[in-house]
Amino acid sequence: MVQATPFFMVLSLALGAHSLYAEKCNLIGYWKNDLGSNMTISPVDEKGIFTGLYNTSVAGNPSKIQPSPLLGFQNLKNPVDQPTFGFTVNWSFSDSITVFTGQCFVDKNGKEVLKTMWLLRSRVDDIENDWKATR
Ligand SMILES: *[C@@H]1O[C@H](CO)[C@@H](O)[C@H](O)[C@H]1NC(C)=O
Ligand SMILES: *[C@@H]1O[C@H](CO)[C@@H](O)[C@H](O)[C@H]1NC(C)=O
Ligand SMILES: *[C@@H]1O[C@H](CO)[C@@H](O)[C@H](O)[C@H]1NC(C)=O
Repeated sequence: MVQATPFFMVLSLALGAHSLYAEKCNLIGYWKNDLGSNMTISPVDEKGIFTGLYNTSVAGNPSKIQPSPLLGFQNLKNPVDQPTFGFTVNWSFSDSITVFTGQCFVDKNGKEVLKTMWLLRSRVDDIENDWKATR
């Protein structure tokens, strides 16, 4: 069986920005990237756990795209002004998983920006195909 490629994105995403002149970078809210993908992050709880929904704009089969749930942690160690975080997206329209890791920055113009990297794991039918399963 051929594994459909679920989505393509540039390796380094600049997701931003949802409010101007913030002193702290706050993960909560609506984010958009250069490719038109967007996500909404719900409140981060006292242990740093957050959930959200990821709306990708790019997929191997664009007609199947559905908003997909995400679950992550923000690191709460001080200082929390420009926190690190990570989350997993459970693609609801494919059998793949993506993990993101990144940091929430306030840039020189006071704009909040997420700098992230991701790994996409596609399902393959057997261990012999493992070599090509992670992008
Ligand atoms: C995903 O995109 C759809 C279509 O524009 C929109 O209705 C929905 O609110 C978006 N979801 C999120 C979590 O941004
Ligand atoms: C969010 O992303 C979805 C999926 O790509 C897209 O249909 C929708 O228009 C986007 N929403 C906004 C407000 O950009
Ligand atoms: C994760 O995705 C699978 C496949 O779409 C779905 O069955 C499952 O309910 C999803 N989990 C959550 C927490 O949404």
